[in-house]
Amino acid sequence: MATPELVPGLAGIPAAESSISYIDGQKGLLAYRGYSIEELAEKSNFEEVSRLLVHGELPTPEEHERFSALLRENRGLSERMLDVIRALPGNGHPMDALQASMAALGMFSRARDYRDPAQRDEAIVRIIGAMPVLVAAFERFRSGEDFIPPDPSLDTAANFLWMLTGEKPDPLAARVLDVALILHADHTMNASTFTARVVGSTEADPFTVVASAVGSLTGPLHGGANERVLRDLETVSGVEEVPDFVEGRLATKGKLMGFGHRVYKVKDPRAVILQGLARELFEKLGRTPLYDVAVRLEEEVVSRLGHKGIHPNVDFYSGFVYSKLGIPVDDFTPIFAIARTSGWLAHWREQMQDNRIFRPGQVYSGEHGRSYVPIDQR
Ligand code: ACO
Repeated sequence: MATPELVPGLAGIPAAESSISYIDGQKGLLAYRGYSIEELAEKSNFEEVSRLLVHGELPTPEEHERFSALLRENRGLSERMLDVIRALPGNGHPMDALQASMAALGMFSRARDYRDPAQRDEAIVRIIGAMPVLVAAFERFRSGEDFIPPDPSLDTAANFLWMLTGEKPDPLAARVLDVALILHADHTMNASTFTARVVGSTEADPFTVVASAVGSLTGPLHGGANERVLRDLETVSGVEEVPDFVEGRLATKGKLMGFGHRVYKVKDPRAVILQGLARELFEKLGRTPLYDVAVRLEEEVVSRLGHKGIHPNVDFYSGFVYSKLGIPVDDFTPIFAIARTSGWLAHWREQMQDNRIFRPGQVYSGEHGRSYVPIDQR
């Protein structure tokens, strides 16, 4: 049999059949379950979008109310679970804390068997409901502050901001975060979603599936990029320095974080929406030099690399928006994880409906038939 051709990064190779999200990278389109991201960002909210992704249809008012209530009921963490988070090293990265605490949450849960529909649905709302609470709890503990109990009157985004600061969030700030969560909730077969499906395919429990996907999202080429964008922007003190910054990065063959995408060859539609929201937020809460630097950076990068299909991706604007909301830079990727959990679980559910364990091939490039040489003769 002829050896199949190796495709590095499995670029363009379908790994599953899915009806969850759809991207047209040439036209800059993203849709969840057939609904455009623009319409969902304008008219829906993260809790409704989560249910849409997981269950496939927009909920009726009763279904929506029930799902939102379940998410809120599932925000609670036991004292022992809080002790686990408290014991994690405060100087560690919040993504590592999130991965560890998601695994621990699973150890406290009985809803681990995907074959039982009741346990499967219980795990889904437990994980989506608890995810922001795990992030907020670690943030409070590492800052030497007390845990702030969740507020069931607030939706996922507003409650997360409340649990970080203990202050009721500005309605525009909460809405902007809610839209950012919608925009990050799913994105077809990216690295962390593929991870979720691979781990799920082994019949691992859903907490392990999500903890593994969190690990996959940490890397700077995936979810870790939003943090790097802000760190880059902070090194540029004014708009006049932007061309030199870009030149310096390209001269050393470095990547400009927040630009380029495996699928989009035009501007990421999520970046377009976030850019509009960033403008609104900076107008209301006060413009800073960071905003002007970012706008100038986009112009410079697109003028130099646009011909290669390199444009801003979602991470370029999400970092700013979060910094304006007063969120610490290393919590940006955990926020991405909070949002993407709905997509991961939708993919896990879909995978388990017709599961076959992933077991790809390889192209062997090693040697054959070597004879063992005893250690004293080498
Ligand atoms: N800055 C500078 N050059 C770039 C960038 C960038 N951000 N992205 C791609 N290029 C260049 C590459 O150097 C390559 O150039 P060459 O043809 O001269 O060798 C060409 O564009 C093609 O790039 P690839 O790396 O092959 O593109 P690929 O599809 O493999 O990678 C990726 C996509 C990983 C997103 C890449 O664009 C990148 O590293 N971007 C920066 C990190 C980033 O923002 N990641 C977030 C992605 S979105 C998300 O996870 C939500």
